[in-house]
Amino acid sequence: MEDILPEEAERRFNLEMIAREHLETHGYKEIRTPVLEDAAVFTRSIGEASDIVSKEMYTFNDKKGRLFAMRPEGTAPIVRAYIEHGIDKAAYEPKLYYMGPMFRSERPQKGRSRQFYQIGVEVFGTGSVYADAEVLSQLSGMLKLFGIRGFTLKLNTLGCKNDKEKYSENLKNYLEREKNRLCPNCRERMNKNALRVLDCKVDPCRALLRNAPDIKESLCQECGGHFNKLKNILKEMNIKFKEERNLVRGLDYYTGTVFEITHEALGAQDALGAGGRYDNLVKDMGGRETGAIGYAIGVERVMLAINKEAAVDKKKTVFLATLGDKAKIEGMKLARQLRENCPRLVVVTDIREASLKAQMRSADKSGALITVILGEDEIAKKEALLRNMATKEQIALSMEEIVKEIKNKLFRGQ
Ligand code: HAM
Repeated sequence: MEDILPEEAERRFNLEMIAREHLETHGYKEIRTPVLEDAAVFTRSIGEASDIVSKEMYTFNDKKGRLFAMRPEGTAPIVRAYIEHGIDKAAYEPKLYYMGPMFRSERPQKGRSRQFYQIGVEVFGTGSVYADAEVLSQLSGMLKLFGIRGFTLKLNTLGCKNDKEKYSENLKNYLEREKNRLCPNCRERMNKNALRVLDCKVDPCRALLRNAPDIKESLCQECGGHFNKLKNILKEMNIKFKEERNLVRGLDYYTGTVFEITHEALGAQDALGAGGRYDNLVKDMGGRETGAIGYAIGVERVMLAINKEAAVDKKKTVFLATLGDKAKIEGMKLARQLRENCPRLVVVTDIREASLKAQMRSADKSGALITVILGEDEIAKKEALLRNMATKEQIALSMEEIVKEIKNKLFRGQ
C-alpha cells in the first residue's frame, strides 16, 4: 500500500476533477459506499472460485465474530446499496459514479498495488444496447480528455446466463480432451470454473485456447443480436474496438457485453479499466430483475498512461518575500487581499522568518511566477517590488497598485 505524496496527490486531484465534470455532463450522480462490507457481499457476487475472492480479499472477523472484507471492487457494494435504499424508486436516474480506494492482496508490481484507486460507473434499470454504447462512449471520451492516446477497447459478449452455462460446458469438454497439455493451475480451474482458464497467461495454455470453442457459437438469437447491434452503433459513432473472443473477465457476475481497455505503456498489467453487463446480479443479491452495466478504471494505471505533464494544471503562485515586522504585517494584509481578489491564486508567505536570500530560494522552489518583495526601504516608501521570476525584471509599485497589477498579469482575459 502506497503513500500518495503532495505532487502525485495534486495530479490525482486534477484527474478526479476532470472525471467528475465529464461524468456529471453525462447525467451521473456520485455514490460513496463504505470501504468495509460484509464479506458475503463479495463472495456471493464475484464468485468463490475467482482469484479476487479466493486469494486476494482482505478479510477479518470483528469482535462479534462477523466476517468483514475490505472492498476489492465497487460494483457489489453499489448493488447492495441500490437494493438496500430502493434506489430503483429514487427521484433521480440510477446512473451512479464512484471513486475511491479498493484493496486486493496481490503481489505488488508496476501498475499493481494492494491499495489502489478506481473511478467507475454503474447504470441500473436498462438492458438496452444503447446503455452499453453510451457507457463506452463516455469512457472513451473521458480517457481522451485525460490526454490518453493509443488505448485499445477490447470487446466481447458472454451471452445470457443460459448461453454462458452452455459455453462453459462446451469449453469444459474441450479442455477435458486436452487436459494433459494444460498447466497444473488450469487443470484445477477447469473443474471449478472453466471460463477462468481463458485468462491463463501461460504459453501452452494460450496456444490451446486459440482452438477452443468460440463463445459466439453458444449465443441465443437475442444475445447475438444485441452484440451485433452494439458493434454497429460503435462503428457509427466512430468508437474503435477490437473483438476479443477469449475476453471473459475474472468476476462471475458478468453476462452479455464485456470489455477491457488496454494500453501498451503499461507492460504486464496492461488493463487500464474494464467492465460489462451484469443483468442477474441485482436479483441474485435479493433485489428485482434489473438490467445493469458498468466499468471501473484503475487510477494508478491511468496515471502511468498519461503524459505526466498533461494532467497537471499547475496553479498560479505568488510568493511574498518580507523582511522585518512591519513588512511581514503588510505582507499578511496583502496576502489576504490577493486571496480575496484572485480565488484560484496560490499565495505563499514567509512563515519561517528566513533571510531574504533564503526566501528567494523558497520562491523559486514554490514555482512562483511573481515574487513581491517588501523590505524596510519599500515599507518606508509605501511601495513593493514586483519581480517577474522568469525574466528577473523588477518594478516598484505603490501598495494600492499591486493587487490590480498581479490580477492583470496573471489572470488577464479570464
Ligand atoms: P476489475 O477488472 O477487477 O473490474 O478492475 C478494474 C480496473 O481496476 C482494472 O482494469 C485495473 O485498471 C484496476 N485494478 C485492479 N486491480 C488492481 C491493482 N491491484 N492495482 C492497481 N489497479 C488495479 C472491477 O473491479 C469491476 N468492479 C468493474 C466493473 C464495474 N464492472 C462493472 N461495473
